[in-house]
Amino acid sequence: MELKLNVNGRNIKADVPTEMLLVELLRERLGLTGTHIGCDTSQCGACVVHVDGVSVKSCTMLAVAAEGTRVVSIEGLSGPGGGNALHPMQVAFHENHGLQCGFCTPGMIMSAIDFAGRHTAPTEAEVRHWLEGNMCRCTGYQNIVASILAGTAAIHAETSTSSMEAA
Ligand code: FES
Ligand code: FES
Repeated sequence: MELKLNVNGRNIKADVPTEMLLVELLRERLGLTGTHIGCDTSQCGACVVHVDGVSVKSCTMLAVAAEGTRVVSIEGLSGPGGGNALHPMQVAFHENHGLQCGFCTPGMIMSAIDFAGRHTAPTEAEVRHWLEGNMCRCTGYQNIVASILAGTAAIHAETSTSSMEAA
């Protein structure tokens, strides 16, 4: 079946089998291997990407269901033009040591950015509750929670600075 969608700012056309999962399209057809497969049973959250701005476990979605959508994977987070600038949530994970092996990290970060868009001043409990769909086998979560709190604050500080500059 022919599928058209936008992935990380690029318009993509692909002929895909109807049973192909979105994560398979990203990894196997488009080479976007930053999106990981940790379980394939919708438990771990390593495969989270954004579909039209909302975090989705890409192992639970058929590629054909993404027809006409805008998909962003971890590779698409850097600024327009591709530069090396990290997203504020990536910076927060780096600065707060929010990872060890890094396997869960792409999904954690994509999920965390969706969280940040829904909360301006979240509590630690709200972060922990949000993370019920993302598993980490290494960190004990403490530094991930700290990273998400810091990343959320940085995103909102950036937004308020840009709106002040625009005023
Ligand atoms: S690989 Fe999708 S939830 Fe684990
Ligand atoms: S850092 Fe290893 S699984 Fe999370």
